[in-house]
Amino acid sequence: MPVTGEGTTPTGGNPPAYSTVRKNGNMNSENGCNHPEHVDGAEPHALPMPIPDPPIQYTKLFINNQWQESCSRRKLPVYNPATGNLLCEVEEADQEDVDEAVSSARAAFQSGSPWRSMDASDRGQLLNRLADLVERDRLILATLESLDSGKVFLLAYFVDLLASIKTLRYYGGWADKIHGKTIPVDGEYFTYTRHEPIGVCGQIIPWNFPLMMFAWKIAPALCCGNTVVIKPAEQTPLSALHMAALIKEAGFPPGVVNVVPGYGHTAGSAISHHMDIDKIAFTGSTAVGKLIQKAAGDSNLKRVTLELGGKNPNIVFADCDLEYAVEQAHSGLFFNQGQCCLAGSRVFVEEPIYEEFVRLSVERAKSKVLGNPLVPGVDQGPQIDQKQFDKIMELIESGKREGATLECGGFSWDQQGLFIQPTVFSNVSDEMRIAKEEIFGPVQQIMCFRSVHEVIQRANATHYGLAAGVFTNDIDKALTVSSALQAGMVWVNCYNAMSAQCPFGGFKMSGNGRELGEYALQEYTEVKAVTIKVSKKNS
Ligand code: NAI
Ligand code: MG
Repeated sequence: MPVTGEGTTPTGGNPPAYSTVRKNGNMNSENGCNHPEHVDGAEPHALPMPIPDPPIQYTKLFINNQWQESCSRRKLPVYNPATGNLLCEVEEADQEDVDEAVSSARAAFQSGSPWRSMDASDRGQLLNRLADLVERDRLILATLESLDSGKVFLLAYFVDLLASIKTLRYYGGWADKIHGKTIPVDGEYFTYTRHEPIGVCGQIIPWNFPLMMFAWKIAPALCCGNTVVIKPAEQTPLSALHMAALIKEAGFPPGVVNVVPGYGHTAGSAISHHMDIDKIAFTGSTAVGKLIQKAAGDSNLKRVTLELGGKNPNIVFADCDLEYAVEQAHSGLFFNQGQCCLAGSRVFVEEPIYEEFVRLSVERAKSKVLGNPLVPGVDQGPQIDQKQFDKIMELIESGKREGATLECGGFSWDQQGLFIQPTVFSNVSDEMRIAKEEIFGPVQQIMCFRSVHEVIQRANATHYGLAAGVFTNDIDKALTVSSALQAGMVWVNCYNAMSAQCPFGGFKMSGNGRELGEYALQEYTEVKAVTIKVSKKNS
């Protein structure tokens, strides 16, 4: 693949300098509640730069705080999707390696082990120490993440890294605040609850936010006192392996976290079917989510939480601040090359502003700068792999065939490789595949609506229910629509506004359970009710 130098706009212009990375009041990098398309406030000279040719130090399986080869001796190739170059090979885990990782996680979970007998505050301290090490290695982690996944380096640095650090610290804070209750019962008894860790947690994560998903998964599990066997996606194992090294350095006891890169149908399936894994947490496709739930049922009924796909409605009323809404809808879809379960891929725009909204959205999409995501000024990198690229191109073709108006883009970028032109379709109707299926690429659908009632019906007419946006300056509309939407997250006059303390998860086929916030603690604890008969002999 040819993309080695400067980025260019899809129409061939020069890449803007750093200073044109847009400012936007919505990005709040202080609290990790980021609007991800924008890097706020930083002067050009203050912006971090990627590490040139970073050494890739960790390529083995991480089990029981040791680096080891896989039982099969097979290796996974790791590619840079921006260039097609092989970055390295890592050991490929399969069933036997997963068994070993589970045994080590089980041993670490035995009562009386260093981990189980640790003061809860010390667990929090370990998570905070890990956060310190991630801050120390922020440049290397952001560089690795960009190289391995094709993510824009500055966004990796400011969004993914910050959110990961914040998540580790947030759950570090919770570790010694997980309280049971005393329950009023018949006076002859005394009842209290303990919120105990579940046990060994299997965690399977995707390639679109490799490091952030790693943090979202391990932090609540460890804060509650569980142990972990985690499988990164086969496309993006590098940041997870670097995190493994930091976990050891932070001082977590052996076996508490085990990292086993491998494929889904082998290592992933071994985790989901394992009889000695007590809970599984998965982020990825709805199709695999169903397999995970089935595997839990077929094996030991392990607890299951699932974060799956979305076909998220973003509803724009005519009374909104138009240019702001266009920008939010743009970044709500194009962020991370559109590879985002939250992508606002059904933009419903009220009739009076429809044409103007489309015009401005097309203008904005055309201004995007494609290229190597490590290069300053580039704001759209490659798709993750050929399979995703082909899926997106096939859906774009279906949009053309089914009669949507292709306003811009619609083709791969003029160079070969995994780049796709930012694409906007207007006159999209609800029956078209591009209006129903998760595209997971830089393809925006803009539909027209006429009434509140109509748009609520249409927004909810999907099996998914992850996120939704509403843009209006009318509080009644905002409240009516946000109450009626079937979605785990609703954003009013913003999009992708997330934080570690706010629950994340979906209605309907977008998943089960919640990550982040206090709610995630429920997904990583079992409640035990202890009832003690009170002896009468002292009364
Ligand atoms: P996927 O669901 O196959 O992959 C996600 C993770 O699941 C990876 O770690 C993979 O190794 C693992 N996996 C795959 N098959 C498995 C199995 N049988 N048992 C256990 N684990 C398994 O997703 P893929 O193929 O990478 O992408 C397909 C589509 O899924 C995307 O186009 C997108 O629509 C959606 N997706 C959604 C994500 C989200 O954030 N919710 C993330 C990635 C993909
Ligand atoms: Mg890769």
